[in-house]
Parts: sequence; structure tokens; C-alpha cells
Amino acid sequence: MKVAVIGAGTMGSGIAQAFAQCDAVETVYLCDIKQEFADGGKSKIEKNLGRLVKKEKMTQEAADAIVAKVKTGLNTIATDPDLVVEAALEVMDIKKACFKELQENIVKNPDCIYASNTSSLSITEIGAGLKTPIIGMHFFNPAPVMKLIEVISGANTPKETTEKVIEISKTLGKTPVQVNEAPGFVVNRILIPLINEGIFVYSEGISDIEGIDTAMKLGCNHPMGPLELGDYVGLDIVLAIMDVLYNETKDSKYRACGLLRKMVRAGHLGVKSGIGFYKYNEDRTKTPV
Ligand code: 3HC
Repeated sequence: MKVAVIGAGTMGSGIAQAFAQCDAVETVYLCDIKQEFADGGKSKIEKNLGRLVKKEKMTQEAADAIVAKVKTGLNTIATDPDLVVEAALEVMDIKKACFKELQENIVKNPDCIYASNTSSLSITEIGAGLKTPIIGMHFFNPAPVMKLIEVISGANTPKETTEKVIEISKTLGKTPVQVNEAPGFVVNRILIPLINEGIFVYSEGISDIEGIDTAMKLGCNHPMGPLELGDYVGLDIVLAIMDVLYNETKDSKYRACGLLRKMVRAGHLGVKSGIGFYKYNEDRTKTPV
């Protein structure tokens, strides 16, 4: 199977790694709007696999073979994939334009499946007006590790496409959960308001950053507290999802916390910008701000 991943950011490179690690996949096209962005995504994969080699969980030969499957370039290299997974910016017009360009000018395989990794946008709207309807294939960060894939059918997604994507998800070693289209699907509908509530709790002075994260880690057995997880997901992504939930439902329970909006406006996005609720150091340690 050949897979094209569109967008080589955190999610795109993680998704590309998950596919490249699968024996059934021979080639992964990792594409972005600039060659250097695509190459940057491949470097992240090499780094991640390097850590596994260092921990003696993988041989150097196996890591090299996985990296060799990943071909980087602009979208135009993706001429013959069996599956496209779009992980571009969470902007409706960008996603729509991406699929249109791929379907009309680039992909020659008439049976190719087109999937979006959108975290909350409407699959039906992304796919509207396209020759081939799309499906949601929602991975979780870090994509090579997290076991879940939400498989989201839009209004026009054929049943056979859903069945094939469920099969592909299982081949990848993931657990697919079928979800009907709704803002935020299942996980982000529940998780993102939880992170937003953690930010309200902090902004109301109920506890400090570490206190809130420790409380939720030890009180609920969550692997990360809400503020740490917000930084990890990206506070811009958290805000974008809160705004989708609010705008689609007009329900005030999805009101984004003012502090979250302020931090995003200040460029304090979490791990990817080096600062959010914590400050991130070169050696991967962090300290609360
Ligand atoms: N890429 C690849 N592998 C990674 C990785 C990454 N970015 N980060 C960690 N790993 C691997 C490690 O190599 C290690 O593998 P090993 O067990 O084979 O040695 C394993 O994951 C565990 O990592 P660590 O020992 O370094 O650290 P932890 O045990 O603390 O686990 C974690 C790290 C898996 C990130 C864990 O803290 C966790 O599960 N956190 C919560 C993640 C979560 O909730 N994600 C969902 C976010 S919501 C989302 O993505 C949806 C989107 O639409 C917003």
C-alpha cells in the first residue's frame, strides 16, 4: 500500500511514521507546501526512531528501513497513493483546496481513498463539491503511540470507504472507533472542554499550574494534567476546537477561557513555541511559567 500524508507538522509526521512502521506499507509520501517543511517532518521521524534505537527497542537497520520508505516533497509527488491522509492546517479553505488539487490534478489512482485528520471540522463540508467524497481518519498525538483512530463518516462517505478505513486502521495496529459527524467528534468534544476548564481553574486562582496538573494526574490517573496536555496539543489547536464547538452549537458551555485566547494571541502556544503554561528547554525538561 502507498500512502500520502499531506502536511508534515507534528500530526503529519507522526501519522507518516505510524504508516512507515507498518509492514503492509511500501511507500509514504510526506508532503508539504515547501520541500524544507517536508524534510523537517522526516527529520522528526528519524529522531523519534533514533530514540527507540538508543533504548534498544529497535535495530538501526530497522529504523533505516522505515525512514527509507518516507519520500518527501510537494503535494505533486503523490501521484499513485492508495490512501491520502490530509493533516494540513485546521482551516476549511486550505483543506478543501488541498483535496481539490489532489483529485483534479495529481492523484492518478481512481480507487484512492481520501481521508482528513481534522480535529473538529465538518467532514461533509470539507468534502462538498469534490469528485470523490472524503472520510475522517482522526489520529491522536503522539500518532505512532496512541492506539485510537476515530473514523468519521460525512453525509456522502460511501459505506465501503468506511469499511476499508476501518480495515486499514486495524492493519496499522490501531483501534478504530466509528463516529458520526458532529463538532469535535467524540474525544475532542469531551477532552478539549476539560483542558479549557483547567485553564479557567488556573485563571480563577484555585490552584497553581503544577497543582492543577498533579491533581488531575493523581486524582484521575490521567497521563498528563490538563495544562500540560494543552501545551502538548498546542494551545492554538485547543482554542480553534473550542471555537468550532461554540460556533457550531452556540452553547455557552463551550466558551473559550479568556486566558487561553490571550496566550494564543501572545504566541504562547505550548511545546511548539517553547512556552505555554510551562517553559520548554532544549533538553526536553520543563518548568511552570
Ligand atoms: N513520537 C513517537 N513516539 C513517542 C513520542 C512521540 N512524539 N513521545 C513518546 N513516544 C513514545 C516513547 O518513545 C515511548 O516508547 P517506548 O514505550 O517504546 O519506549 C513511549 O511513547 C512512552 O514515552 P515516554 O516514556 O517518553 O513518556 P511517557 O510514558 O510519559 O508517555 C505520552 C508519553 C505517551 C505522550 C503520555 O504522556 C500520554 O499518553 N500523554 C497523553 C497524550 C494524549 O492525551 N494525547 C491525545 C491528545 S488529543 C489529540 O491528539 C487530538 C487532537 O485532535 C487535538
